[in-house]
Amino acid sequence: MSDTLIRLQGAIPRLNTEALRGDFPGLTTPDGQPWHYLDAGATAQKPQSVIDAMARALGPDYATVHRGVYSRSAHMTLAFEGARRKVAKLLGGAEGEIVFTRGATEAINLVANSWGGANLGPGDRILLSRLEHHANIVPWQLLAQRLGFAIDVCPLTPEGLIDLDAAEAMLTPAHKLVALSHVSNVLGSVLDAPRAVALAHAVGAKILIDGCQAVPRFPVDVAKLGCDFYTFSAHKLYGPTGIGALWARAEILDAMPPWQGGGAMINKVSFEGTTFAPAPQRFEAGTPAITEVIALGAAIDYVEGVGLDAIHAHETALVKTLRRELSTMNTITLFGPETSAGIVSFMLDGVHPHDLGTILDEENVAIRAGHHCAQPLMEHLGVPATARASFGLYSDESDIAALLRGIERTRRIFG
Ligand SMILES: Cc1ncc(COP(=O)(O)O)c(C=O)c1O
Repeated sequence: MSDTLIRLQGAIPRLNTEALRGDFPGLTTPDGQPWHYLDAGATAQKPQSVIDAMARALGPDYATVHRGVYSRSAHMTLAFEGARRKVAKLLGGAEGEIVFTRGATEAINLVANSWGGANLGPGDRILLSRLEHHANIVPWQLLAQRLGFAIDVCPLTPEGLIDLDAAEAMLTPAHKLVALSHVSNVLGSVLDAPRAVALAHAVGAKILIDGCQAVPRFPVDVAKLGCDFYTFSAHKLYGPTGIGALWARAEILDAMPPWQGGGAMINKVSFEGTTFAPAPQRFEAGTPAITEVIALGAAIDYVEGVGLDAIHAHETALVKTLRRELSTMNTITLFGPETSAGIVSFMLDGVHPHDLGTILDEENVAIRAGHHCAQPLMEHLGVPATARASFGLYSDESDIAALLRGIERTRRIFG
């Protein structure tokens, strides 16, 4: 990583993206042109240090973890458990409270099936919001069909924030769980998490926060938030796919039953009855994603080296610039609040977002176009899809300029 990360432009600390981009081999096209990658919200590009960590773990360092009696396996186990410590420190939790999962989706399914399976039933209610990603809707629907509890949906404010006044009015002692996104993957709107936690706890409900879009964008501290469950995916945090984590408060995790069975999660197996390992191992059945976990550790080192406060300030400034530029175009509808975290959703009048995305691709600009796995939110916005630009720590004004040029060209093509 470059040692000249921050330069000052006026009063706003900005990341030195020129230097940072050199760390990301994915940010150029095959013919060596800059690739204006504005889709970090879907998945972030990877720095070379993460790629190297993964290659080392798959190559000269490779061995299994937890089981081997040979020294390579012992070293690998140390690296693997070292990554768990890094995740714990990143989130402000304890090592024993971190369960590795395939990603945020699996982490939410784990909470639904294990905690939900043991604690939800007929007469109970849970509260979600209108802007949730399908990963924080469908697992609860599947469980509700099985167990017979009810799902309430919190509305949004006109700017696109989860309406916590409405949540306060809706919550009752029948609510056992509140599950909300920390940052909307479509609108970039940021949850007032401390208030959401206080509201949930005031009626005796647990609260799960889906931190998929928050963890890469600003510092998170679960101890300060006081929440009960927190989830994220490594691939949005500049790490590999196939790995993510659940943080759960120790006393809750300790009381949760296993949800998948197999090797590594047991204490003793016999046909008379099996006993289970303590958490977090109880929730990690089978050979884990060894190389992915180690590369996640490298991604955390990288992001902490840049600094999450600096990343937040940088992305906030880019959002402000892009929203200002788009709002001067009278053919653009902008969604979400002014103060969104790293994500800007919009529509170009008379142009389907897929057509815009295709034309932008010809300009080496990558955006996401579609429903973003948030169909109930699309219904609320009254559109089938939006165009979404989402920033990463390597994004800068040159990406915004390329996007605006592409939008201008699209407007000309569509007359
Ligand atoms: C807010 C939010 N929650 C959950 C997910 C699901 O993450 P994954 O597909 O990595 O499990 C995403 C992915 O886009 C997301 O943006």
